[in-house]
Amino acid sequence: QANERESMYLVSEYASKQYMDTLWNTELGKAIGLSYFKERGFTDETIKKFGLGYNLDQWDAFTKSALSDGYKLEYLSKTGLTIVKEHAGGETRKFDRFKGRVMFPIHSISGRVLGFGGRILTNDKKAAKYLNSPESEIYHKSKVLYGIYYSKQAIAKEDNCFLVEGYTDVIQMNQRGIENVVASSGTALTPEQIRLINRLTKNITVLFDGDAAGLRASLRGIDLILEQGMNVKVCSFPEGEDPDSFAKNNAYEDVVLYLEENAKDFIQFKTSLLAKEAADDPIKRADTVRDIVNSIAKIPDRIQKEIYIQECAKIMQISEEVLYNTLAQIDKKEV
Ligand code: CTP
Ligand code: MN
Ligand code: MN
Ligand code: MN
Ligand code: MN
Repeated sequence: QANERESMYLVSEYASKQYMDTLWNTELGKAIGLSYFKERGFTDETIKKFGLGYNLDQWDAFTKSALSDGYKLEYLSKTGLTIVKEHAGGETRKFDRFKGRVMFPIHSISGRVLGFGGRILTNDKKAAKYLNSPESEIYHKSKVLYGIYYSKQAIAKEDNCFLVEGYTDVIQMNQRGIENVVASSGTALTPEQIRLINRLTKNITVLFDGDAAGLRASLRGIDLILEQGMNVKVCSFPEGEDPDSFAKNNAYEDVVLYLEENAKDFIQFKTSLLAKEAADDPIKRADTVRDIVNSIAKIPDRIQKEIYIQECAKIMQISEEVLYNTLAQIDKKEV
């Protein structure tokens, strides 16, 4: 329903303004939230550009102000900004979802506020580092890319999109002068997210945190990008670094140079990685061949497919014929 959605946008935009106001104009906001962002190296300009904010560590500070400013509990609840609990005896309790967290508003491509990510300020391993808005009528995680509103022009202009893991990676790269960046924000990449990029450029460079944990799992998601006929490069960062820390600690020229030197064609990267892992084990090698040919099978362009088959044959030291046969088997299964 259009009216309902509009009301949800309005309350989300109100929340974004409130969180900013708390960050910039309250003693606690300045002492806790603003100093946190400064410590991360964000400038005032950057903090304002991305609409970053803070919500007080109180039971219902935000909910109360929203209600007294005339926003309806229904939409506060539907956007997940307020959690409403019915207790026995008919008593309802209302409290803020985000408490004592710095706030990252998540915008649509046209700049409307859809939801939020809220980060705790400590590195307490017991609490979830980021808390996010729930799925709602206006916030569909699978269709949103963090940063797309700020990066769409740069993506088209550079004819390339850097895809990173998190909010702060987008923001820090942006501040460093690399603006064609979006984040999947912790969820597995979806076809809808890729389509959003595909309308702006055919070229994606996926940047992995240097913790290797996510790398193996992410390789699968990348087949979805190939399927849409896009060119994919991947680039990982040194152990313990992510695009945020790397951009924070290096000059613009050095970040650009690092990306140029370390971004590798995805199929070549995957082939080399898997080939190394399976080097002395024939059964693993067979699995690896199938895995890679599976990726190649997703590429719509026939000439590209052929070129990749030739490349992989070289890297894997296996005949092209075997690879073509495997490809034919996969194609048959898919039809
Ligand atoms: N994420 C999340 N919930 C968590 C952990 C992560 O939603 N408990 C999402 C966030 O969008 C986060 C992204 O996954 O930005 C990447 O996770 P991670 O690399 O762990 O976080 P960073 O973005 O590096 O966050 P920070 O630098 O603030 O620690
Ligand atoms: Mn919908
Ligand atoms: Mn990570
Ligand atoms: Mn990270
Ligand atoms: Mn980080």
